[in-house]
Amino acid sequence: MLRTVTVVRSFSTQSSVLSPPPGAAMVRKLFRNASIYTPADKGSPLCGMRQAEVNRFEKGAIFTKDGKIAAVGDERSVLASIAPAHPDEEIDCLGRCIVPGFVDPHTHMCFASLREEEFIQRLEGMNYLEILERGGGILSSVRSVRGASEAELYSVCRGHALAALSFGTTTLEIKSGYGLDTQSELKMLRVIERIGRDLPLDVVPTFMGAHAIPGEYAGAADEYAALIIDEMIPAIAQQAIARFCDLFCEKGVFSVDQGRRILEAARKAGMGVKIHADEVHDLGGAALAAELRAISAEHLLSSTGENIRAMARAGVIGILLPATAYSMQKEFAPAREMVKLGLPVAIGTDCNPGTSYTESMPFVFGLAVLGMRLSISEALVASTLNAAYSIGMAEQAGSLDVGKNADFILLDGESPAILAYHAGVSPVMRVYKKAELVYAHAKARSREEEPGDAGL
Ligand code: NIG
Ligand code: FE
Repeated sequence: MLRTVTVVRSFSTQSSVLSPPPGAAMVRKLFRNASIYTPADKGSPLCGMRQAEVNRFEKGAIFTKDGKIAAVGDERSVLASIAPAHPDEEIDCLGRCIVPGFVDPHTHMCFASLREEEFIQRLEGMNYLEILERGGGILSSVRSVRGASEAELYSVCRGHALAALSFGTTTLEIKSGYGLDTQSELKMLRVIERIGRDLPLDVVPTFMGAHAIPGEYAGAADEYAALIIDEMIPAIAQQAIARFCDLFCEKGVFSVDQGRRILEAARKAGMGVKIHADEVHDLGGAALAAELRAISAEHLLSSTGENIRAMARAGVIGILLPATAYSMQKEFAPAREMVKLGLPVAIGTDCNPGTSYTESMPFVFGLAVLGMRLSISEALVASTLNAAYSIGMAEQAGSLDVGKNADFILLDGESPAILAYHAGVSPVMRVYKKAELVYAHAKARSREEEPGDAGL
């Protein structure tokens, strides 16, 4: 059902995700009286000292045209730059904080059922890779995805994507990898593509047929790698249905050699390449990411200084997933060392039914600050601009710069620190996608007034 923005005003008791009316973006809007924090995009991911490079406009404004940012900065200079044009709508943000919409660069949220029992087993001491070896873990998700209709899979995935949106995510990567045969992987990728078409979210699809060795290929990883190379990658490339190819380089899963073959084939077929590296063991995945100049290496819990330097030299982005370490009760990735050694750091949820069941970027932000000891500014860059670079979306997302999509969130606080400070809840009050209000939290918790839409 389509609702107009005015409906928001009657949301006093319920939070809601709204669908913008068609064509509603074709207007000029002025968001004023906001405390704006944004990384400045100078054409490359921010690393080292620059990982903390955030611009602040204390009494700031954003002027949008047709869903894009037309001016941003101090309110006075924005008003001067747009005169004599009149906005069609003016939104007073009551001094609250605006940051770019989160970019979640790593999720597996297209799955059919949960694995709560396995979570309990892990709490009782069972090991993640042992569970996988016995046919559980990823392989149990494979069984349920293969058995689910496309409509069932869509409805579960849509629920997770809507939850992500309500936590401020406006751009999202979703990986396949619970199908592990050509038809089921294509089914997942069609669902992922449809999520991006139907919801007010930009979705980046990643093919991850190399997520585990399916039961029918047990003990025959080379044969399964050949199936990926000879059948899956050509089918996916022919339908142009995935932008990246990812693989799980881990003991008992894919070796460095198999990984190299798969990723080289994917690259030849036109996909960008990514690697789940050093999640449990340092098998050489990070070194492979450096060798192949992958766009990103992800997890990196057991990465060494040598690997970090090699990745930094090769222009790889490190995507860190602190909710996974938290849920697996492991040490966090060495984020401080990465910043020190000049590796650009991004953060994501890793939303999946096994190792990290959360859609919440505010939760991940809090873990990045309090667990991995990134500063607030570093975590903001990691969850927006660097995350956008790590999935090839920086031209349109990741910062509040002129020409980019007007994707931003209004926080119930004065600065992005609220994301780590107000723990365990979401301080996301409003989410704007291409300047349209797509989510509004029921009520400001800490103040009485709601930001007013004066133009309505
Ligand atoms: O990022 N490591 C591999 N993939 C996921 C887990 C997937 C699962 O357990 O279902 C991860 O941790
Ligand atoms: Fe993952």
